[in-house]
Amino acid sequence: MRENFLFGTNTVNFNHGAFGSNPIAVREAFQQFQKDFDGEPSIFVRFKTPYLLNEARSCIAELLHAPREECVFVQNATTGIGTILHNLEFRDLDVIIYFDTMYGAIQMMLASLFERYGVQSRKVVLQFPTTHRDVLASFLETVDSIRREGLNPRMAIFDTIVSSNAQRLPFEALTEICRKEGIQSLIDGAHSVGQIALDLSRLQPDFFVTDCHKWLFVPRACAVLYVAMRNQHLICSTMPTSWGFIPRTGQQDIPPTMMGSFHPQMTDFERLFHYIATGDDIPALCVPAAIKFRREVCGGEDRIHQYLHKLAVVGTDIVAETLHTEALQEPGLQKEDISDMRRCGVGAVRLPIQVSGDSKATNFTAPVALLEESDVLPAMNCIWGILKDHGIWIPIHCYHNWLWVRICAQIYLEEEDFRHLASILQEACQQVAKVFKPAK
Ligand SMILES: Cc1ncc(COP(=O)(O)O)c(C=O)c1O
Repeated sequence: MRENFLFGTNTVNFNHGAFGSNPIAVREAFQQFQKDFDGEPSIFVRFKTPYLLNEARSCIAELLHAPREECVFVQNATTGIGTILHNLEFRDLDVIIYFDTMYGAIQMMLASLFERYGVQSRKVVLQFPTTHRDVLASFLETVDSIRREGLNPRMAIFDTIVSSNAQRLPFEALTEICRKEGIQSLIDGAHSVGQIALDLSRLQPDFFVTDCHKWLFVPRACAVLYVAMRNQHLICSTMPTSWGFIPRTGQQDIPPTMMGSFHPQMTDFERLFHYIATGDDIPALCVPAAIKFRREVCGGEDRIHQYLHKLAVVGTDIVAETLHTEALQEPGLQKEDISDMRRCGVGAVRLPIQVSGDSKATNFTAPVALLEESDVLPAMNCIWGILKDHGIWIPIHCYHNWLWVRICAQIYLEEEDFRHLASILQEACQQVAKVFKPAK
């Protein structure tokens, strides 16, 4: 599979979830669109792009099991979530619920909403390792406590797959709870399409965003914003506000939008996102090429999802066994048990490097290195330096006083690659122990 991608000979990419990577076939489609654009810029933008974009939206909507009218393209997950939060009108008693594992940029959006408009939020703290049951219980507890405060749990934002700890959250059950409790669900599915099966018609979230440039092999930057038809009247502006803006009066006293005139049958919501400003729609136009590659060369979505899931579990187990640590999953799970948390294409492994302080991990095997807080970043840099010499980069973060790595599976990787990574990580941890403090 690797020969279908553009990696340099020395690169082994275990960080697909960050920026994705495109197969050569998709890159060729991308370059062809660029040539077509530059060959006849105005004709391409005015006459071809609208139809190509609609075709791309049809393809992605089919994959997500959603009507095309509910799916539009935005640049990335951050823009999609920002667009929703920017449009909704929050009242004084409204509260947004989120998990402490939420992606940092989205947490900043909530901080900014509070500063500018006083919108309150409440954080659900997750203590990994944990179970889906406990996640749901903590969520419900937070809903109850908000109500006890006399406030209104208006919206919940949650991930499908948590970024740094690489755990799959029970987003289906959370969505169901939200529906029953009258809470709007905004799902950050940045790491979803292409990695796990999605059926939005069944899931029925209020709002859902997923990056196509991460796991679907679409060139950067491209994401889908799904807004259920019942909520589309709430979304009146893009970010930035542009041609499709829907004023409260309903009257658009401006010349007919440049793009809207080509598609009089479009809904307001579709027209809103159809043309915002000079930008680059070409990544989105490549969605059909990416899906075609996945179907014809990789054997289709189910096959890819199964491969990713299996390789992520087996591969992260290989790394954990080599390092004498663990892959993050539900506590007390036996080898033959299936982990709900690991039902995805990415996993987290604890490094045998502890940070001094109050560690919760008392029953773990001894660390090879014990770091002072001030040594954490230099130690990470030491590991990254060694990985880089082998053409590898993976995120490292400190959780509960241990260092953890996030490792992505992908169709261009095999078990052997994880063995290779494991031995490099082993060498890197020993180097950290040598340079910093070996554990006694
Ligand atoms: C959970 C999650 N949400 C949002 C994002 C932001 O994605 P983007 O940079 O495509 O907006 C990321 C990025 O990795 C992420 O992991």
